[in-house]
Amino acid sequence: MRLDVVTIFPEYLEPLNVSLVGKARARGSLDVHVHDLREWTYDRHNTVDDTPYGGGPGMVMKTEPWGEALDQALADGYEAGRSAPALVVPTPSGRPFTQELAVELSERPWLVFTPARYEGIDRRVIDEYATRMPVYEVSIGDYVLAGGEAAVLVVTEAVARLLPGVLGNAESHRDDSFAPGAMANLLEGPVYTKPPEWRGRGIPDVLLSGHHGKIARWRRDEALRRTTANRPDLIERCEASAFDKKDREMLSILGWEPEPGARFWRKAQDVEE
Ligand SMILES: C[S@@+](CC[C@H](N)C(=O)[O-])C[C@H]1O[C@@H](n2cnc3c(N)ncnc32)[C@H](O)[C@@H]1O
Repeated sequence: MRLDVVTIFPEYLEPLNVSLVGKARARGSLDVHVHDLREWTYDRHNTVDDTPYGGGPGMVMKTEPWGEALDQALADGYEAGRSAPALVVPTPSGRPFTQELAVELSERPWLVFTPARYEGIDRRVIDEYATRMPVYEVSIGDYVLAGGEAAVLVVTEAVARLLPGVLGNAESHRDDSFAPGAMANLLEGPVYTKPPEWRGRGIPDVLLSGHHGKIARWRRDEALRRTTANRPDLIERCEASAFDKKDREMLSILGWEPEPGARFWRKAQDVEE
C-alpha cells in the first residue's frame, strides 16, 4: 500500500518510522511519502492560509498550495505505477473512524491524507479531488484537535496492522474489539500473561484449565461484561439473534432483558421506564 501525507508539519509524522508501521515500511508492505505543503508556496512567508470568506475567527488553508501539492503527489504515485488513489481528509465533521472503516481503507492500494491546520482547507479542494477519486472525510472522535496529523497517525496504525504480513500473528486482529464478523460486535475482555501471581493477584482459573470451550465461553462472558459496562450502545444495536443461549443468560445476569418482541436487548431499568 502507498501512503502520501501532505502537511505543514512533516516532522509530526516521524512516528511512522517506529514500531509496527516502521517495520511495515522497512519490509515494503507500506510505501510512505510525506510532503511539506510549504514547498508549494512562493511568497517570502510560505503562506498557506488566508482569512475566511464571510468573516469569522481563524484562518482557512488556501486552495493553490493544496492543489499543487496533491497534483504532484498523485503524479509521482502514478509514475511509480500506482493506481486507484483515495483521499483521506481528517476532519472533526467527518464520518467516525471505526474498525469497519479501517478494514475498508486497508483494502485500498493507495491513500492520500490531507491533515489540515487552522479552520481546515478551502472546501473547493475536497470537491475538486472528489471528481477524480473516492474521498473519505474521517473524524477520529468527538473533540477538536489543533491539526490532522495525529488523526493520520491513528488511521495509519489501525490500517497498517490489517495489511497482510504486518502482524506477527495473522489471527490476532480477528479477536480485537470491534472486529467485524464477530457474532456480535463486542469489546475484548481482559487479558493476562505470566507470572501466574503478581502482588497477590492471580489469574482466572479457567485460563489455566486447558479447556478451549470453557476458555472461549469465559472470554465471551467477559466481553459481554465489558461491553455492557463501557459501550451499552453496541449491545443495543445488536439484533437479539446475535446472542446465543449462553450470551442471553449472561446478559440477564448483567441486568439486561429483551425488548418486547425480542429484537434487541436493553438494560432492564430502561424497559421498565
Ligand atoms: C482546529 S481543527 C478545525 C476544526 C474546524 N473548525 C471544525 O470545527 O470542524 C484543524 C484540523 O485538525 C484536524 N482535526 C481536528 N479534530 C479532528 C478530529 N476529531 N478528527 C480528525 N481530524 C481532526 C482536521 O484536519 C482539522 O481541519
